[in-house]
Amino acid sequence: MAGDASRMRKPVIAGNWKMYKTQHEARDFFAAFKPLVAAATHCEIVVAPPFTAIAACVEAAKGSTIGIAAQDVYWANEGAFTGEVSPRMLVEAGCRAVIIAHSERRQLFGETDESANRKVKAALAAGLTPILCVGETLAEREAGNTQKVLEKQFRGSLAALTPAEFSRIIMAYEPVWAIGTGRTATPEIAAEAHKFLRGLAANSFTAEYAASLRILYGGSVKPENIKGLMAQAEIDGALVGGASLDAAQFAAIVNY
Ligand code: 13P
Repeated sequence: MAGDASRMRKPVIAGNWKMYKTQHEARDFFAAFKPLVAAATHCEIVVAPPFTAIAACVEAAKGSTIGIAAQDVYWANEGAFTGEVSPRMLVEAGCRAVIIAHSERRQLFGETDESANRKVKAALAAGLTPILCVGETLAEREAGNTQKVLEKQFRGSLAALTPAEFSRIIMAYEPVWAIGTGRTATPEIAAEAHKFLRGLAANSFTAEYAASLRILYGGSVKPENIKGLMAQAEIDGALVGGASLDAAQFAAIVNY
């Protein structure tokens, strides 16, 4: 892990379990995973299980530094919103963070930059760390619109945040064409997008907060490609889908 001492931003390796794992399966995962990452102090480790397994994961993660995150949140504290879960419910359940506006939420469940923005603000107000996802589709990249799309998502999702609020978020760049496809962005392509996002952060907020913003890469991250990705100074960690479901694979990514 040469070079890690010079990193000014502490890496975050986060697993997004999506709609996988029962409570029972989650407990089995932690029993295998915890000893494999017990010595890892070079990065923050986050696991985002489905809502129903959050409590089991919080319990199972006790005695470790592994943080538990949710995969989505609603912006109201309580109310007649059938099927939704509020920020304070997540905090009470033991979550520290929440993924917001994952591309699957955007593509399949009608998430917009506007709803993402309300969720980011509500999560911050409750003391949660939002992990805000942005990323272009293949058609958008091929049309040369990557930066335009990222800028729209960035500005819309982070509208009206104060610099102090902005300083508490984590971003994840997840090009849609690399998710679950086995087709990873090259480290260079990812780093270019991260650099662009950091530039937007400097323009919209402050240079200091832009410099401390952690931007994770997501999209077919595996034990075989994490080292190359993390060798890029612009890449501050990973948001891992499929490979985070297996304790040995996810531990190998954590211990890159
Ligand atoms: P995969 O790692 O399975 O491509 O998923 C990436 C992702 O969507 C993480 O949020």
